Amino acid sequence: MKRAIYPGSFDPVTFGHLDVIERSAKIMDELIIGVLNNTAKSPLFSVEERVTMLKEATCHLPHVRVEAFGGLLVDFAVQSGANTIVRGLRAVTDFEYELQMSQINTVLNPEIDTVFFTTRLQYAYLSSSIVKEVALMGGDISKFVPESVMKRVYNKFKLKESMGNEQDRADY
Ligand code: PNS
Repeated sequence: MKRAIYPGSFDPVTFGHLDVIERSAKIMDELIIGVLNNTAKSPLFSVEERVTMLKEATCHLPHVRVEAFGGLLVDFAVQSGANTIVRGLRAVTDFEYELQMSQINTVLNPEIDTVFFTTRLQYAYLSSSIVKEVALMGGDISKFVPESVMKRVYNKFKLKESMGNEQDRADY
């Protein structure tokens, strides 16, 4: 049984993430998408909202499930019975961070390996942060995220605007 974890913040999930999910799910018996419940960062979406968006976007993939996790990724992997971590690599700028993470994880637990999927060219520029920035400025994000996610992003910014909470908008 080849079971892997695809971890991330997914704030929100993009077509770039979904591309990595679909491709890695093809070579795994089971893929668990691990959504980081991070208290240090202040994400735009709650962990429950991020999990819901991912479940909606991956409901056509039977052996993919979505779970929230806190604490160390390697501990989550062990609890889930997975010995592989999947990550996407977009450009050289990702490399140092990804290398450090995979090496730290190997030191913490040598049984767990990280495999990288190079992002498809059409998503090489794409990140959750860029999506939020474009949406915040009123731009069209339909090429970057699924429709249901797009609606949630626009709604979130409208909601924040009506609350007059400039700080929240600056936090993403
Ligand atoms: O999508 P992101 O924000 O780049 O994902 C980063 C993530 C969630 C993979 C990373 O922050 C993580 O694994 N956090 C859990 C804490 C941990 O295990 N830290 C040690 C390895 S960096």
